[in-house]
Amino acid sequence: MRYWSFRDGFGLENLVVCEGETPQPGPDEVLLELSMASLNYRDLVVMRGQHGKAVTTPLIPLSDGVGKVIETGSAVEDFSVGDRVSPAFFQHWDGGAPPSNLERGRLGGPLDGVLTSHAVFPARTLVRVPEYLSDAEAATLPCAGVTAWSALSEPAPLRPGETVLVLGTGGVALLAISLAKASGARVIVTTSSAERAAQVQKLGADLVINRNAVPNWSKTVREFTGGAGCDRVVELGGAATLMESVKASKIGGTIILVGNVTGNNAELFLPLVLTRRLTLQSVSVGSRQALVALNRAMDHHQIRPVVDTVFPFDKAPDAFRALESGGGFGNVCISCVQETDH
Ligand SMILES: NC(=O)c1ccc[n+]([C@@H]2O[C@H](COP(=O)([O-])OP(=O)(O)OC[C@H]3O[C@@H](n4cnc5c(N)ncnc54)[C@H](OP(=O)(O)O)[C@@H]3O)[C@@H](O)[C@H]2O)c1
Repeated sequence: MRYWSFRDGFGLENLVVCEGETPQPGPDEVLLELSMASLNYRDLVVMRGQHGKAVTTPLIPLSDGVGKVIETGSAVEDFSVGDRVSPAFFQHWDGGAPPSNLERGRLGGPLDGVLTSHAVFPARTLVRVPEYLSDAEAATLPCAGVTAWSALSEPAPLRPGETVLVLGTGGVALLAISLAKASGARVIVTTSSAERAAQVQKLGADLVINRNAVPNWSKTVREFTGGAGCDRVVELGGAATLMESVKASKIGGTIILVGNVTGNNAELFLPLVLTRRLTLQSVSVGSRQALVALNRAMDHHQIRPVVDTVFPFDKAPDAFRALESGGGFGNVCISCVQETDH
């Protein structure tokens, strides 16, 4: 098999193509031939070596991928050769409350990820992908998609007619916008340019605010909601946006803490949080069962994730650079199909 590995440390200078023996599945395992991988912001954090002490090298990067079953272990009953599947982001969390070893089960660090031609996974961690999706579209779902799903499902599912504010137009945000619209919600989005605003409008956003032109966007959200504020914020900004999200929220509203692209240390004016009776709920991707539920909803609504670029396997470092530049719109993917396979 051929795979990319942060071999002697992190940083793109240490990301190298390696060759090795294709692993054999144990009795409860499945051998996949990977076809596609998708990048998340988290993969940049891992690439920079900033994901904490538990994530070490050598490491095969990326958590989100799609592959075809090419061999099954003797005890595997649920999957057959030819099935198109994704491994769940958390390999130790099937459903219900997260286990105490949750963090140890993440693909793409600390566990080896999917930027490889072949990999073995326990059959119990796999999920069939919706047939109507391309490999690239389906590859966006295990982390980015499930996170968007959790952000709209916890602590209680979004209801039709509610107003959701989604910050930014990254991988998680775009899926949250599509899922929220499909649920019958009104969706407000903040973004950084007129060009992105136009693209988000095509996804069905009811109001798009240019955060550069309108830095105090909470006022615009309140005006749009008749002074009440929004029901839910999908908070992806972090330090620099959290206070605006509080101001944009209605009394009894919920802020789903998902991301921290602007920094880790947020300052909150607590009287506003307290008097608005806000719920601050964090999410950490979601379980394998959440991926199953997401796939069902995607299939039902025929939602198509937005894919920006698919890089060939041998250009994987360029995919990291593309995501880091922040210039695209939609998920950045890498084909795992090897040139020699054609
Ligand atoms: N908790 C979890 O389980 C979980 C799971 C997945 C991701 N995350 C986190 O969620 C965040 C987004 O992840 P992603 O993979 O979707 O990232 P991504 O695809 O890299 O997108 C990041 C987006 O953030 C927006 N942004 C940048 N600067 C901003 C600012 N100053 N204010 C508001 N928005 C800003 C940009 O959109 P515009 O230019 O359009 O504004 C950009 O497209 C990251 O912090 C990631 O670590 C958390």
